[in-house]
Amino acid sequence: MHEQQQPETPLAYQSGFGNEFASEALPGALPVGQNSPQKVPYGLYAELLSGTAFTVPRSEARRTWLYRLRPSAKHGAYRRLERQLGGAELGPVTPNRLRWSPAPAPDAGTDFIDGLVRMAANTETSQPNGASLYRYAANRSMERVFFDADGELLIVPQQGVLHLHTELGLLEVAPLEIAVIPRGMRFRVELPEGEARGYLCENHGCALRLPDLGPIGSNGLANPRDFLAPIARYEDRDGPVELVQKFLGELWATELDHSPLDVVAWHGNNVPYKYDLRRFNTIGTVSFDHPDPSIFTVLTSPSAIHGMANIDFVIFPPRWMVAENTFRPPWFHRNLMNEFMGLIQGAYDAKADGFSPGGASLHNCMSAHGPDHVSTEQAIRAELKPHKIDHTMAFMFETGQVLRPTRDALACASLQADYDSCWAGLAKTFDPNGYPQ
Ligand SMILES: [Fe+2]
Repeated sequence: MHEQQQPETPLAYQSGFGNEFASEALPGALPVGQNSPQKVPYGLYAELLSGTAFTVPRSEARRTWLYRLRPSAKHGAYRRLERQLGGAELGPVTPNRLRWSPAPAPDAGTDFIDGLVRMAANTETSQPNGASLYRYAANRSMERVFFDADGELLIVPQQGVLHLHTELGLLEVAPLEIAVIPRGMRFRVELPEGEARGYLCENHGCALRLPDLGPIGSNGLANPRDFLAPIARYEDRDGPVELVQKFLGELWATELDHSPLDVVAWHGNNVPYKYDLRRFNTIGTVSFDHPDPSIFTVLTSPSAIHGMANIDFVIFPPRWMVAENTFRPPWFHRNLMNEFMGLIQGAYDAKADGFSPGGASLHNCMSAHGPDHVSTEQAIRAELKPHKIDHTMAFMFETGQVLRPTRDALACASLQADYDSCWAGLAKTFDPNGYPQ
């Protein structure tokens, strides 16, 4: 076993979204003026990681050049792993509204990959669109390295810090932050606090990007400078490493004789990144009624239908409520889009109870939902003064295609049998003689 760690690189980031980033862990490691010279500095190999087809419009194109100790091509055959991901199988179709309590603690020795349970999905993973949605609960750092050939990964920690050691460098991600890892990028998840839980969206479609701002103008919502990409760091480590990939929904592994996190320098815009949700510039009404929740979109993956997202990642952060003469919780609604919600901390303003941090809910196309009866009655009676909804962070993966729960999600003990009852107490208050008081 040969191990020569790079001298400890302080944790640092490069700021921006979609930039042509560049980073080198050794001075002069990045070739100047060309991508693939005959001789790369320090005897490195040049390798291209494409995140989009070569001929997409330039504004869509994502790719990164890697300068590494060994090309990724140096590996033996992959074998199918006996232990596959939780929630591998989709369940029977159901139009019902579903809600889950937080997942139970993971078994001892569960790493990030073993701790993933797919809750719902809306596509075959071979299609270049759609999403698969997971919860994770892990208590052991990964020793193996993983990459997902089926999609880009949006990680939403709910509990516990993650150290994401990626080919391009290290991201430290805590609850109230998110991270995105491009399709195919190799990474290892370490758990410095011992246990971690959260949510994950596997995006099979177009890469996530910032939404257009329209009349909002050139500032607001998630600002580009608050997105952080890593700086280069590499492992010069010989010895066995299991490299696992997810391919067409299944896990496969091969044994390497070295660490695949051996990129000394890189440049490009196909990068992992993190974002602190507390930096979101929340915009809302200052007169009456609510704007649609699209005003809370952090990142979006467009579909082929103009204006209809493949996935929107939407948050409900702390914010002031000032609307006059307005029913202030989210209104009752039946939407075309499909909504998978999670809660990172605190309480969600449409649910008095039953929706806890670590829990989840699914409201599919045209399913009727909204505030529960306790929240509704309180909101109708409330004296409307400016007040702040604080210490909360709910989020939604909103998808254009209907989400189908997995067999595991429908069979697990955390599925709530009585979710419908939270609306059962909504009494008829109609009075043909006038407004009820
Ligand atoms: Fe909704």
